[in-house]
Amino acid sequence: MESGNKQGSIKYDHNIPNQSTKKQYKMMGLICNLLLKFAEEKTDKSTLEEIKNRLGIPEKGFKTEKIYPEDEWQRFLNAIAKTLDVDNDTAEQMFAEYAMSLLPVQFESVFRNSANALDFLRKVPGMLLNLPALTGLATKEKIKMVIDEKNKIVYHYNSPNHLCTFLKSMIKLVFQYYKEYDYCIKGTQCMKDGKNYCEIIITCK
Ligand code: HEM
Repeated sequence: MESGNKQGSIKYDHNIPNQSTKKQYKMMGLICNLLLKFAEEKTDKSTLEEIKNRLGIPEKGFKTEKIYPEDEWQRFLNAIAKTLDVDNDTAEQMFAEYAMSLLPVQFESVFRNSANALDFLRKVPGMLLNLPALTGLATKEKIKMVIDEKNKIVYHYNSPNHLCTFLKSMIKLVFQYYKEYDYCIKGTQCMKDGKNYCEIIITCK
């Protein structure tokens, strides 16, 4: 469970995700490029070049509006985590912090037009579905909002990427962005424990 506090770091007890994804879904270049920028910031040039060559990452980076194989994204995240000598959960938390340092600038109107953290979080499942759908190909609904009440929403997250630590970190950072500290993020079941989806309950005052 994650509760609001101003300084506290997050600690989750998940294992490293199972990377043997058999089914191929797709991932929008927008998020792949964000990961590439994160890698550029956190690793040195020659290490990144080596990773890019080894994994076959496009020389000029990803195209925002295109879609890419998800297993490629997973291998890239793994390689970055290894280079930084951190586990995947830590890499996901670091990536969430990086993402939230840029997204409020890139998507300023979405943040401005949301009254509070929960209001913003209500828009996330739709954004994740609709932005990739603009490519005309990716249609998988990765986050479903199964409960939507005044002070509570419940997400069901189902993705071969198993990025629930990233998801929880992002939720926490959204609350921080709106300077709301009286909240609770609770994972009640997880794909990493063999469940079909991760359930995340978000409540606030
Ligand atoms: C304006 C802000 C945001 C934009 C534009 C955005 C956009 C995207 C896009 C395009 C993807 C790739 C989806 C795909 O291709 O399947 C993605 C992935 C993801 N986003 Fe966001 N996002 C934003 C904020 C957030 C927030 C606040 C959260 C959490 C509450 C979040 C959680 C996730 C997760 C968990 C994934 C990975 C899904 C997966 O592949 O398993 N995002 N985002």
